[in-house]
Amino acid sequence: MTQSIHLAISGLGLIGRRHAQAIARQPGVELVGVADPAEAGQVEAHRLGVPWYDSLPEMIEATRPEGVIIATPTPQHAAQALICIDRALPVLIEKPIATSVAEGQRVVDAAEARGVPVLVGHHRRYNPLIEKAHEVITSGILGEVRAVQATCWFYKPDAYFEASPWRKQKGAGPISVNLVHDVDLLRHLCGEVISVRAVAAPSRRGSENEDVAAALLTFESGALGTLTVSDAIAAPWSWEMTARENAVYPATAESCYLIGGSRAALSLPDLRVWSHSGKAPDWWQPISATHLAQEAADPLVRQIAHFGAVIRDGVAPRVSAREGMRTLAVIEAIQGSAETGEAVQISAGSA
Ligand SMILES: NC(=O)c1ccc[n+]([C@@H]2O[C@H](COP(=O)([O-])OP(=O)(O)OC[C@H]3O[C@@H](n4cnc5c(N)ncnc54)[C@H](O)[C@@H]3O)[C@@H](O)[C@H]2O)c1
Repeated sequence: MTQSIHLAISGLGLIGRRHAQAIARQPGVELVGVADPAEAGQVEAHRLGVPWYDSLPEMIEATRPEGVIIATPTPQHAAQALICIDRALPVLIEKPIATSVAEGQRVVDAAEARGVPVLVGHHRRYNPLIEKAHEVITSGILGEVRAVQATCWFYKPDAYFEASPWRKQKGAGPISVNLVHDVDLLRHLCGEVISVRAVAAPSRRGSENEDVAAALLTFESGALGTLTVSDAIAAPWSWEMTARENAVYPATAESCYLIGGSRAALSLPDLRVWSHSGKAPDWWQPISATHLAQEAADPLVRQIAHFGAVIRDGVAPRVSAREGMRTLAVIEAIQGSAETGEAVQISAGSA
C-alpha cells in the first residue's frame, strides 16, 4: 500500500481550517502538522489532534512534510513560500500569491531556479461548474465572446474585520481579497486581459481600503468586461452567495457572471446557455435558456487531490506561480488605475 502524502499547513485561520477539513476528506493525504503562533491556532490544532508549532521553519524541521499549504495573511505569503522553496518543498500558496507583482516575482524566480512546483490557491478553477463553462466557451457554442459582466457584492459584518486586524489594513480590501477570484476565473474563461480602467470608493467603515470598486477590462480577444465588487452591499449576487461552494454562505438561486457571445450567452454559476434555439441570432425572435446539469464537488478537496498529484506524480500545477502572477498583475492594474484615474496597460511580460 502506498503511504499517504504528508502535508502541513502554515496559518490555521479561516481558510487554513478549511484546508484541514479538505485534507481530512481526501484519501491519500494526511495532515502532519500546523504552524500558527496565535493561541486560537494552537487550540484548533489540538482539537484536530495535529501536532502544533509556533513557526513554519520549526514545523518543517519537526514534521518533514512533502508539501506545505501557506494560509497566512497575504503579506506573509512570499517570505513563507521562499522558506519552503529553499528546502525544495512543493507549496500551495493561498491567493493572492503575494501583495505585489514585484514580491510575487521573487517566488516565481526562486521556484523556477530550484525546480520546485508552486500551486496558487485559485480553487474555484477546480469547480466542475467552471470546467463545464470552460468547455462550453472553447467549444464555440457562444460564438465570439464580446462582453462579460461580473458582480461580486456582499456585506461582510464588522466582526469579520475585528477578528483579524490585517483585513482592515492597506492592500487587504475587496479588490485584492475577493475580486482576485473573479479576475482569475474570467482570465481562465475569456483569456488574457490587456488593459484596465477602474474607480474605487473609500471604505465607509474605517478600513484603509476601498469598499466599492468598478473595473472595465479589455481582453486580448477584444472582449470587454465590467466588474464591480463591494464588501458593503447587502445583495445576493456574488460567486460566494450563488455557487454553493461553502455552506457558510446561505445560497441564492441567482447568477453573478454573464458571458455574452455573438451566437449565445452563458450565465454562471447557474450554467444556463441562452440562444435563439439554433436559429440565427435576432432580437425579434424568442430567446430561451438550456440548463446544463453538472454534478457538484468541493473545489477545495479537488485542489488538494491535485496538489497531491503535483507532489507525488510530477503533474504540472493547474494554477502555477506564473499563472497566479498574471491574475495578480490584473488586480494590481485595477488598484493602480483606481488610484491614478488613468488606464493601465498590462504587457504579456509583466508576469
Ligand atoms: N481561497 C479562498 O477562498 C480564501 C478564503 C479566505 C482567505 N484566503 C486567503 O488566505 C489567506 C489567509 O486568510 P484568512 O482569512 O484565513 O486569514 P486569518 O486571519 O483568518 O488566518 C490567518 C492565520 O495565519 C496565522 N498566522 C499569522 N502569522 C503567522 C505565521 N508567521 N506563521 C503561521 N501562521 C501565522 C494567524 O494566527 C491566523 O490564524 C489570505 O491570503 C487570504 O487572501 C483565501
